[in-house]
Amino acid sequence: MSSPAATSLRSSLADRTVLVIDDGDAVRTAFDVLLSIHGAHVIGAATPAEGIAALQAKPVDLVIQDMNFRREATSGEEGIALFREIRRRFPDVPIILLTAWTHLETAVELVKAGAADYVAKPWDDDRLLTTVRNLLDLRSARTEAQEIRAERRAARDELAERFDLCSIVYESQAMHTLIAMATQVAHADVPVLITGPNGAGKEVLADIVQANSAVRAKPYLKVNLGALPNELIEAELFGTETGAFTGARARTGRFEAADGGTLFLDELGNLSGGGQAKLLRVLQTGEFERLGSNMTRRTRVRVIAATNANLRQAIREGRFREDLFYRLNVIELELPALAERRDDILPLARHFLQPRFSLSADAERALTQYAWPGNVRELQNVMRRACLLSPERTIAVAALNLPTSPTPTLDEPTLDRAAIEQALARAQGVVAQAARELGLSRQALYRRMEKLGLKTDGVRSPAPPPMS
Ligand SMILES: Nc1ncnc2c1ncn2[C@@H]1O[C@H](COP(=O)(O)OP(=O)(O)OP(=O)(O)O)[C@@H](O)[C@H]1O
Ligand SMILES: [Mg+2]
Repeated sequence: MSSPAATSLRSSLADRTVLVIDDGDAVRTAFDVLLSIHGAHVIGAATPAEGIAALQAKPVDLVIQDMNFRREATSGEEGIALFREIRRRFPDVPIILLTAWTHLETAVELVKAGAADYVAKPWDDDRLLTTVRNLLDLRSARTEAQEIRAERRAARDELAERFDLCSIVYESQAMHTLIAMATQVAHADVPVLITGPNGAGKEVLADIVQANSAVRAKPYLKVNLGALPNELIEAELFGTETGAFTGARARTGRFEAADGGTLFLDELGNLSGGGQAKLLRVLQTGEFERLGSNMTRRTRVRVIAATNANLRQAIREGRFREDLFYRLNVIELELPALAERRDDILPLARHFLQPRFSLSADAERALTQYAWPGNVRELQNVMRRACLLSPERTIAVAALNLPTSPTPTLDEPTLDRAAIEQALARAQGVVAQAARELGLSRQALYRRMEKLGLKTDGVRSPAPPPMS
């Protein structure tokens, strides 16, 4: 155990339980010797039934299984059945299939689902150890990710118990921090500025602030400053007196109507200079006049403003008042783009699905990899359309109709057939190793092999050794 590689192997195998299911006594002994030196605890099983019983009896970190369990069997059917049974009952346990070169295609098919790999017989000890270590590392990473997710869920549930989260859907840490902050500042009588890109959920966040404020039972009005022509914005906000302009009738403005409550000013960046001055005044003094009136009125309104514009830039360019900005952003809640909180994509996608619809694994992968320039609103639209157009209840990637990006994604560089074949041959069929050599993830290499029609026939293999 002198080399650094051996040391790291030891740390990853130490005290792990490996179950070897193979009818060959010699094979089980060989694994016992090999893995025990590295600190693993090895259990042997000669038949599939014994193997399942061993899995039920105590926790197992990894299974190594043969494909045939009787001297005369060569079809691999028993191995396939065993693999499926283990997957069904113990979905998280990694599995290594011991397979003959002649059955490579079956093995590739089986391991595509993940948390599994295959090793061709007769195996090379170093390569086998590498595969074992990779799968154990993968499993640790997964368990860790699951633990983190469970912790986050608990934190979210706790927050949801104390506050009204307005049915917002999220799983990311970034959103948790932001929403915790929103609920915390909600009670204070200060303006809140919500910034973030289009469709990211600024209005939902405003709703959360309002719903947890001291004035939650009071009026809550929303004005979209981007949807109104400039001339009408001031009339909408502050109201008009009869004859203020041609055809104007006496009308209560939103600041008056929201008195004692909350006003949500959406798309604040669109407010003109005149509107900005009046808004600043009402925020500072609570005073305003209706258009066409000299009578000063008073109001007390909590303002939540939202914008997708870069107000700091607008200030530098003289388009937005700095004093108004500092009045409004006493508390700034910065909503990240959906692409910056990928943990939220699938929970949101499932939330937007109609009842009885679900997503295929390919569709889920495509959703998490897409850039979402239109954020949550775009995701909502994609899911609505998919439910309408999908011929199946399980939505396939094609039904999502996602715009394809012009550049290939990072994990799939263009690799030709020869490069893959050679890497596979050098790795003696250990896909994990070939993938590492090619700089791809294992899954990416499988996808690549599939695309190129590279299965058993495509791999230049040594003469097939006899099956066990
Ligand atoms: N985390 C979330 N959970 C559930 N629904 C969400 C979430 N975020 C956004 N939505 C939904 O997505 C849509 C867009 O959200 P919202 O209108 O709040 O975005 P916005 O940032 O205000 O967009 P815009 O900049 O275009 O005004 C809405 O239908 C909203 O209900
Ligand atoms: Mg909005």
